[in-house]
Amino acid sequence: MARASTVLVLLLICNYGTSEVFHFVLNKPPKGQHCCPIDNSKLWRKTIRGIKEDSSAVIERFFNYEFYLPKAQLKAGLEYYGAARRLRKFVRTLLLGDNMPLKIGVIGGSISSGVGTTSYETRWFSIVSKWMRSVSGANITSRNGCIPATPSAYMLMCMEMSVDEDVDLVFVEYSVNDGVENVLVGNRIVKTMEQLVRRIMGLPRRPAVVLVQLPHLFGDIFEPFFHTSDDLEGALSGYYDIPSISLRNALYPLAALYPTDGFLWNQTYGDTHPGDSGHKIIADLAVHLIQETARDLQLDPIDPEEEQELMRPLPESMYFGNIPPPETECIASTRFKGLVKKAVGWGWVNEAKDGNNRGKWGYVSTKPGSKLIFQVDTRRPGVAPSDQIPLLLHYLKSYRGMGIARAECRSGCACEPLDIDAGLKAYHSQTIMIAIRVTQHEKCEMQLTLLNSTTNNGYKFKVSGVTIVGSSDYPADFFTMEFWNQP
Ligand SMILES: *[C@@H]1O[C@H](CO)[C@@H](O)[C@H](O)[C@H]1NC(C)=O
Ligand SMILES: *[C@@H]1O[C@H](CO)[C@@H](O)[C@H](O)[C@H]1NC(C)=O
Ligand SMILES: *[C@@H]1O[C@H](CO)[C@@H](O)[C@H](O)[C@H]1NC(C)=O
Repeated sequence: MARASTVLVLLLICNYGTSEVFHFVLNKPPKGQHCCPIDNSKLWRKTIRGIKEDSSAVIERFFNYEFYLPKAQLKAGLEYYGAARRLRKFVRTLLLGDNMPLKIGVIGGSISSGVGTTSYETRWFSIVSKWMRSVSGANITSRNGCIPATPSAYMLMCMEMSVDEDVDLVFVEYSVNDGVENVLVGNRIVKTMEQLVRRIMGLPRRPAVVLVQLPHLFGDIFEPFFHTSDDLEGALSGYYDIPSISLRNALYPLAALYPTDGFLWNQTYGDTHPGDSGHKIIADLAVHLIQETARDLQLDPIDPEEEQELMRPLPESMYFGNIPPPETECIASTRFKGLVKKAVGWGWVNEAKDGNNRGKWGYVSTKPGSKLIFQVDTRRPGVAPSDQIPLLLHYLKSYRGMGIARAECRSGCACEPLDIDAGLKAYHSQTIMIAIRVTQHEKCEMQLTLLNSTTNNGYKFKVSGVTIVGSSDYPADFFTMEFWNQP
């Protein structure tokens, strides 16, 4: 697998006997050749039938799109539709056009950010945005806010960096990065996702949410069909009325059960990441969802009752008390650099290998004894001044050559020193957060010292930001790795 450090694999294959995983022949194309080109001879279009003449003229334009994925699998990939109230409202505006402002966004990991594709144009979100602009008279702005190698817990704490406040539709792709926790009741991955969904749905324009569920491929292994959080997150779809599309449901039959040329894993995936044809199929699923929503609106327009339901406040959380933390402030990338007072033996580097300028900035050190000092205002207006608040340090957890850093409060604020081990036994890398409870102070000076010990054959440590949570009772363990490590 190429570029392991940019990969956000957390596929916990070691727990499965070979009988339960599906092995496939990995396509290693000659250098300079892409794994997964689109076979144009397979493209097809939907026809519209059974709709009144006047309606059909309205949505005819919407059906101007060529699909790669065969029809039955397109339907199979629509995992949950439900009442789709918010999506119907979005699509109604899309149909209306009239230069109405509409903002769409995507959050997720490296796949939706485009790793694995040959160009900007072949990324699934670009295809969807381009199609939407070509069929609608609305003024559509799109934003790809994905951050490679991060789980949904990261986005929960840093959403303002990736999502516009006035967004109308958000695609959410975390099924690969969030991995799996083998627990049915109180599943922490689903809990985090619930908080993220609530945070998005609480934005001022009441945006629609669509879950984009992608399969787990790792090397030449497809994990068991059921080995994903996808199905457990189906509870959120039902509870919050949020549609979901599933590349697993769409593609697994063609790739594995009834092998079909053009749709095998090695024709759609380069490694953990789908290539151009895989992205085209994800785009097909998203376009299909929007088109069928448009068709649905023609047959059954939004009535006053549905309008009223759209205005209802969010329900209580599905998991008791599982609401997003109030007032998080995320300081990452160049803003984090601005906090740093002194860096001895630490360098400010971008570790993105694919020229992505956004994702991978941070302070990196490999020399034990190196000290990094940063200063941050930890005062939170909503919290009693004497209470501690969680400061979440963003750091890279990885599988090779990683070390241990000690975090301490140097002046202003106070905290228990904490040794943070960046090493991982499993073969994956992710930027995650760990909570340090600190007292509130305008000039809280913190220090990271790289220790002279390791569990991972090396001393590398990378820190890329902090999130300050405006609440004193947030669970301290929520942002540790354990929740996505299998026992
Ligand atoms: C792709 O996988 C199929 C079996 O699933 C295998 O027969 C074929 O040789 C593979 N193609 C390449 C180019 O690796
Ligand atoms: C479209 O929307 C953008 C952002 O909301 C705005 O800046 C732009 O002026 C709009 N374009 C038109 C033609 O109204
Ligand atoms: C780290 O430990 C090794 C062996 O114990 C020692 O040789 C080395 O000097 C130590 N380095 C630092 C920076 O303390």
